[in-house]
Amino acid sequence: MTSTARKLLVAALAVVVLAIGGFAVWQSTTTQTGDGGGSGTALVGGPFTLVDQNGKTVTDADFRGRLMLIYFGYSYCPDVCPTELHKMTVALDMLNDGLDEVAPIFITVDPERDTVEQMKAYATLFHPNLIALTGTQAQTDAAVQAYRVYYKKVRGEETALDYLVDHSSFIYLMGRDGAYLTHFDSASTPEEIAAAVRDHL
Ligand code: NI
Repeated sequence: MTSTARKLLVAALAVVVLAIGGFAVWQSTTTQTGDGGGSGTALVGGPFTLVDQNGKTVTDADFRGRLMLIYFGYSYCPDVCPTELHKMTVALDMLNDGLDEVAPIFITVDPERDTVEQMKAYATLFHPNLIALTGTQAQTDAAVQAYRVYYKKVRGEETALDYLVDHSSFIYLMGRDGAYLTHFDSASTPEEIAAAVRDHL
């Protein structure tokens, strides 16, 4: 092996190690349990006040007594959001009798374009029980912070309203008390989601 090739190999290995390390840190902050007092309470979740697709103000407290499946995204999302919301829809259809005990919730990270009317139209593409929530920028950011969601607008070169939003993509399962139970990612199947929900019914 030439010295140049060896340097390249070392550099490539360093990138892999950094990537694994970064993922581990990211994962531990995503799923970390413990609030400093060692109570085992997850750091994901918390209060929110938003507006549903019928214009009614709702808070997290309105869903106490039911499990919550919560997904953050935006209606203009070209691929990830429709895929995940469809997955949630299929999982909900597998619940049968347990369906009424679950509140499926979609929260936009793009309240600028996701008006109540827009959310109402978008929600019809998915499960009839889907609660589609928007709000002011401040209300949205409070919910985003509570759930440790990442999002960032990526401005296009065209009009001010033509942009994409990078965002984290997890479906959170929250308990009847609003506390974090688990989450699902792009690799999770509807069957896995339905099974995890059933475990907590
Ligand atoms: Ni999306």
